[in-house]
Amino acid sequence: MSPYSRITGTGSYLPPRRLSNADLAAELAAGGVETSDQWIVERTGIRARHFAAPDVCSSDLGLVAARQALQAAGLQAQDIDLIIVATSTPDMVFPSTACILQNKLGAHGCPAFDVQAVCSGFIYALTVADALIRTGSARRALVVGAEVFSRILDFKDRTTCVLFGDGAGAVVLEASDRPGILASDLHADGKHVGILCVPGHVSGGNVLGDPVLKMDGKAVFKLAVAVLDEAAHAALAKVGKVASDIDWLIPHQANIRIIQSTAKKLKMSMDKVIVTLDQHGNTSAASIPLALDTAVRAGKVKAGELLMLEGVGGGFTWGAVLLQL
Ligand code: ACO
Repeated sequence: MSPYSRITGTGSYLPPRRLSNADLAAELAAGGVETSDQWIVERTGIRARHFAAPDVCSSDLGLVAARQALQAAGLQAQDIDLIIVATSTPDMVFPSTACILQNKLGAHGCPAFDVQAVCSGFIYALTVADALIRTGSARRALVVGAEVFSRILDFKDRTTCVLFGDGAGAVVLEASDRPGILASDLHADGKHVGILCVPGHVSGGNVLGDPVLKMDGKAVFKLAVAVLDEAAHAALAKVGKVASDIDWLIPHQANIRIIQSTAKKLKMSMDKVIVTLDQHGNTSAASIPLALDTAVRAGKVKAGELLMLEGVGGGFTWGAVLLQL
């Protein structure tokens, strides 16, 4: 057994179709829905998002991100002995997107399963993979966040459809004697189910309920800013570190005002915060690994640095992972 799990490779993928706020506003206007670049930028910080083609699923986006992460780690798909996919937009009701991805990768035999914690999904998945590696159940895990959120948006609801995008991010997590993941802190409170949900399900061959995203934006905003710095402080405290030790904050990319508020509470300058929200929108479980990979490939975030990853999402779920890259 190894004392640590460590990220040894990252990857990401955005589908090619990019819509600026102006592009989206024009499309929405055709359906009688009014919005503007100015409103979206001022309230959220989002300037553009990517939408997958109709025949492209979460596993397709995850596949490209996973291959990049494997290449960065110098591994082949067959070297992987655990696959976890965080998604709220799975390819099918079952089997899991992780099994579908495993088949596309040609990595047969290893355990593969999905984690459903909406926008906190990658934080949950990374924590589960870390635990399985540290207890000796796995040595080389692929942890993927992949979403086609455009499929569950109501394009008549301007308060939600301007916020989200599609994409995927992935990491390879390997057993290591060198410090990698140092601490995690996970939470959920199911009494807030109704403030962010897709209230539909399949029954007798029909879709029941209303399977598009519903959100009480103000309630989500309030909860997010209340819990995110607490989770970060809790993870730091587990290993005797403080916020000023963090080199980079890599938050879930939901809203620039939530990110700024969390950074302020942690007394961190925005220069130390990775922001990709402006170009990606909110890609739910994909947003943190997408931001991480973007920052790694840009040469911003480097090996040896201390990273705080944190997320919040439907459930209500939230959590943080402190790691040394
Ligand atoms: N374009 C133009 N006007 C709009 C739009 C839009 N897209 N959406 C709403 N408006 C209007 C409203 O109709 C309202 O008009 P009114 O004053 O005439 O009634 C006005 O703008 C203000 O609306 P509010 O809902 O009060 O706007 P608010 O400042 O609360 O911002 C927002 C809304 C951006 C959704 C904010 O509440 C928020 O960011 N909440 C957090 C949401 C979030 O981040 N969710 C995802 C996190 S969890 C996860 O990732 C799954």
